Amino acid sequence: MWDGQELSPAVSNSACAVFQNFNVRRSTPNLTATAESSLTVPVHRSSVADGEHRRGKYLDMPAPVWHSNWSSMLFLSVILCLANFWLASAANNGLARTPPLGWNSWNRFACDISEETILSAAKSLVTTGLKDVGYEYVVIDDCWHADTRDPETNAPLWNPVTFPSGIDNLSDQIHSLGLKFGIYSSAGIHTCANRFGSLGYEDIDAKTYASWGVDYLKYDNCWNEGLSGNTTISYKRYEKMAHALNATGRPILYAMCNWGEDQSWTWAGELANSWRMSGDIADLFTGYDPGCPCTSLENCTQFGYRCAVTRILDWAADIAPYSGPGGWGDLDMLEVGNGNMTKDEYITHFSMWALVKSPLMLGNDLANMTAQTLDIISNKAIISINQDPLGVAASRVAQMPLEEGDVQVWVGPLADEATVVAIVNTSPANVTVTLPWSEILPPQLLALERVVRIFDLWQRVDDKRWGQELGPFTSLLSEAKLRPHETKVYRLEPQSTQDFAEFTVQS
Ligand code: GAL
Repeated sequence: MWDGQELSPAVSNSACAVFQNFNVRRSTPNLTATAESSLTVPVHRSSVADGEHRRGKYLDMPAPVWHSNWSSMLFLSVILCLANFWLASAANNGLARTPPLGWNSWNRFACDISEETILSAAKSLVTTGLKDVGYEYVVIDDCWHADTRDPETNAPLWNPVTFPSGIDNLSDQIHSLGLKFGIYSSAGIHTCANRFGSLGYEDIDAKTYASWGVDYLKYDNCWNEGLSGNTTISYKRYEKMAHALNATGRPILYAMCNWGEDQSWTWAGELANSWRMSGDIADLFTGYDPGCPCTSLENCTQFGYRCAVTRILDWAADIAPYSGPGGWGDLDMLEVGNGNMTKDEYITHFSMWALVKSPLMLGNDLANMTAQTLDIISNKAIISINQDPLGVAASRVAQMPLEEGDVQVWVGPLADEATVVAIVNTSPANVTVTLPWSEILPPQLLALERVVRIFDLWQRVDDKRWGQELGPFTSLLSEAKLRPHETKVYRLEPQSTQDFAEFTVQS
């Protein structure tokens, strides 16, 4: 179910809907349980409205617009899915039909890496069962490099002290565990940690990586010699590596990391299998940090670092529709398990990265993680939302501001006429949310002759089921209670014909 499946033509159960009767009650320590406010959510407008300047020079793709009825949403979905097809076919390597799953060394280890660090992570993927739920790429980020390239051939060399057995050997060992191997470079003269970069050396680097058995390249943006500032110039710089990788004949997943500069979400899908769309994530749930100064993606020039989960999610809400089979917006590696967020915050982070179809690249120390961390990152029901073969990112359909945060509702279509709905509480208050399904579900799921089953994907039952099934479908999701920073994820699906027959007999 998780890979190799074609884009289903069933695009009509698109996610967006007018959403007016969303009801939130909150109770904070300062308020009694009866101090409730009942509010009406204004119709959400995506900030990716028209705007000629948002269009990629290389892809005349209409920017997503907000529509308020299902027929126009169907039209929009078809356009987006076609656009996704163009995007996917342009990368031209047949990879990443669903978002890549794996582990990357940077968030936890930064430059403090060695062959032991990487191999231990790879082995842990196997022993913890994470490989079995789909994680497959093991990626060394920055700092694997020797001081210089080979002075005679210009080929890249690994650091002989930290990788004494050789990166080719490490790659073999990772492959022998049934996993895939990834490496990092920058489309600049240096990497972000000042090791040698690949600008001007694309061909020799791609060939060398292929000879090392590399299956994935993360390609950064530091020290780019001023070769950015408009779409054309950035495109051409990243295109060189795309061609060089394709020319090796080895399938190498191309993960662009230009942080969204020059609106790369509009054109990166022609070249790459994933594209970072923000400055670096930090192990922070919310808030503003001067290290991540941009207030919008549109005009951002200083992408920075220390970007909080909720800020990246806000940006992703605008551009998630550009993702599709073969090319995915990348919200950055996961921080789950790195220690600075609460369980509910990590659940929100993991759930929402999954819903918007970001690559899920673990970023914690797999050899030393808690049972709670493992439990979160191996939630198969959530992973299957991310890996759903339809490959359509969920959209944010409502946002109700509260003090220090908000309550958001996200909806996304899944294969087999299923739908995912997430309610996200980014505020520090407990909230009670009542949600009329009729406002957000596609009409075919609500049609009279169908019976809908609802599963709560974080109320785990056992390994085989999606999660706790809620009682019989009614017109409302009534009084869902969310703790501060908690997210609830529901999967709604039509009863199978057989179940339906049984249901009618019983009733
Ligand atoms: C940043 C990138 C990070 C990490 C780092 C390495 O530009 O966004 O994810 O790769 O460089 O130096």
